[in-house]
Amino acid sequence: MRHVLTLFDLTSKEIERIFAITEDLKTKFQQGIREPLFPGRVLALLFEKQSLRTRVSFETAMANLGGSSLFLGKDVGWGERESSADFGQVLGQYVDAVVVRSNSHAKVEELAKHCTCSIINGLTDTSHPCQALADLYTLRERHGTLAGLRLAYVGDANNVARSLAVACGKLDVEFAIAAPKRYQFDSNYRSKLKKELPKLKMIETTDPVEAVKGAAAVYTDVWASMGQEAEHKERVIAFKDYQVNATLMKHADPDACFLHCLPARRGEEVAAEVIDGPQSAIVQEAGNRLHAQKGLLAWLLGTQA
Ligand code: CP
Ligand code: NVA
Repeated sequence: MRHVLTLFDLTSKEIERIFAITEDLKTKFQQGIREPLFPGRVLALLFEKQSLRTRVSFETAMANLGGSSLFLGKDVGWGERESSADFGQVLGQYVDAVVVRSNSHAKVEELAKHCTCSIINGLTDTSHPCQALADLYTLRERHGTLAGLRLAYVGDANNVARSLAVACGKLDVEFAIAAPKRYQFDSNYRSKLKKELPKLKMIETTDPVEAVKGAAAVYTDVWASMGQEAEHKERVIAFKDYQVNATLMKHADPDACFLHCLPARRGEEVAAEVIDGPQSAIVQEAGNRLHAQKGLLAWLLGTQA
């Protein structure tokens, strides 16, 4: 039984295996084939924050695989009505896997410690591994290969950026991140990346042009994530020179695509001319959340069979 709380939990080989399963299941899906590989299996979605993509793609993935899912919102009282330990021990007896979205990564780790079924991180304050899996799968789909490509991330070094850095390190993609000093990775995370992923090629800069130079993909995310709404005003000022617009895109590879986890704020982190323009791959990327998560579920449930 395995948990996927961050991409540090998966080896490069395992990610490649998940991508192979994803590719197979996506091809079949496009041919109208939904293989009921896991009848009777149940996935719980324990969500403390809003979601469209993560929730709907996981629920659909589980239905496509012949299983079912149940959504557990705040009313289940995780950590309020009862402790994470009691909650995890009980829930783990009912379901086969749990996708969790929480404000607190530490709270998810506590749940995982006590839960006897797999926990998948569906976004925490510090990590969004399923997003990064779908993103790198999308890049691979567009280029046929990943090795040696550069992914440039312009914006807040948030949960999405942290997971992208790990995914890049595992899959031999150069990761360049441009952010104001105050919003870059903290030194602990930087040390963890260096220690766990000695081969990661990472460029950290305050200059967006330097980051996107020659990049195969230019990525951004909102400047204020869920839970940071009160900081929105100050962040708009701090990030004003970090918008991904047509001028910045000119410094990337001419075939570069634009990626964004969504939801997006047009006119802030990205100009409409880019996100709605010909280089934008956001629809393919969001669509791949379904396929990559189905690949992850099939791999996880398959290892439990
Ligand atoms: N990108 C992403 O995780 O979207 P949701 O918040 O809608 O799940
Ligand atoms: N960084 C964003 C990602 C949303 C999918 C957030 O945490 O709100």
